[in-house]
Amino acid sequence: MAMYPSATASGKFQIGDDLTINRLGFGAMRITGKGIWGEPSDRAEAVRTLRRLPELGVNFIDTADSYGPNVSEDLIREALHPYSGICIATKGGLVRHGADIWAPLGRPEYLRQCVLMSLRRLGLERIDLWQLHRIDPKVPRDEQFDCIGQMQKEGLIRHVGLSEVQVDDIEGAAAYFKVATVQNRYNLIDRTSDAVLDYCTQHRIGFIPWYPLAAGDLATPGALLDTMAKAHHAVPSQIALAWVLRRSPVMLPIPGTSKVLHLEENVAATRIELSDKEFAALDLAGQEAYRASKA
Ligand SMILES: NC(=O)c1ccc[n+]([C@@H]2O[C@H](COP(=O)([O-])OP(=O)(O)OC[C@H]3O[C@@H](n4cnc5c(N)ncnc54)[C@H](OP(=O)(O)O)[C@@H]3O)[C@@H](O)[C@H]2O)c1
Repeated sequence: MAMYPSATASGKFQIGDDLTINRLGFGAMRITGKGIWGEPSDRAEAVRTLRRLPELGVNFIDTADSYGPNVSEDLIREALHPYSGICIATKGGLVRHGADIWAPLGRPEYLRQCVLMSLRRLGLERIDLWQLHRIDPKVPRDEQFDCIGQMQKEGLIRHVGLSEVQVDDIEGAAAYFKVATVQNRYNLIDRTSDAVLDYCTQHRIGFIPWYPLAAGDLATPGALLDTMAKAHHAVPSQIALAWVLRRSPVMLPIPGTSKVLHLEENVAATRIELSDKEFAALDLAGQEAYRASKA
């Protein structure tokens, strides 16, 4: 076994059939200030965390222009440019007016500005994966998709992803571009997007679950995740991640952290092999917890 864990143990996935990444990625939303606003409290540790990524085989980084805003993309450039072999997936289409405040803005001229500014901040000529952070309900979705398809044709964007969408949105977007990835909230105890995940699995669309570490009460001492974690000499968040990774071959989790130690712990979860029985027990407990949260 390697001295350090490696994301290569999570297996590989081809985004849009020509961009191969290791399935366990990194979410760069947490390397910003409180409320995802401004600079991180420990900037040096955030840079160290980013620089540790390639050493741990993580070659897929999710960010957004709105994280900070700009802070996350700027730090990624500072720490990792010219990226050699790392896929930077960014997003646009949300504006920020303060900590924890997010609003969609999908007017075509703004989406174009998002892409051009991300290119400039990241120091790239083309973005490997650009994701529409939210479909703006105030703008016809076809106008948003059309503009994105246009930017892809111009070579500003290599692959296109969507975020927080339904199957109908994915099918609607297909008239303008091939949907390479979908990024929806998903974890052991939040199954809202099960149907979208199944659709993505069927169509080989990468599914990027955000908030993948959540396990709620299942992680409390003595509960299922805690017991299973002890049996694997692991911690509950690693078991939650191992379950997410096993849920589908198109699953591309992007656990986010601002700390090297937590990053190493998350990558080490790729070494955990859940038995069929353990996977099924976690699945059932997660579904029950999800149903209870909706009751
Ligand atoms: N598309 C969207 O709308 C959307 C929305 C939200 C997030 N995202 C993306 O998804 C990524 C992940 O989502 P998320 O950050 O909300 O959820 P997450 O990755 O499940 O959880 C992150 C939180 O867990 C902590 N953490 C991480 N690893 C840990 C560990 N090993 N032990 C203990 N605590 C740990 C982090 O704090 P520390 O910094 O202290 O480790 C942070 O508070 C984000 O970075 C972002 O790229 C997308």
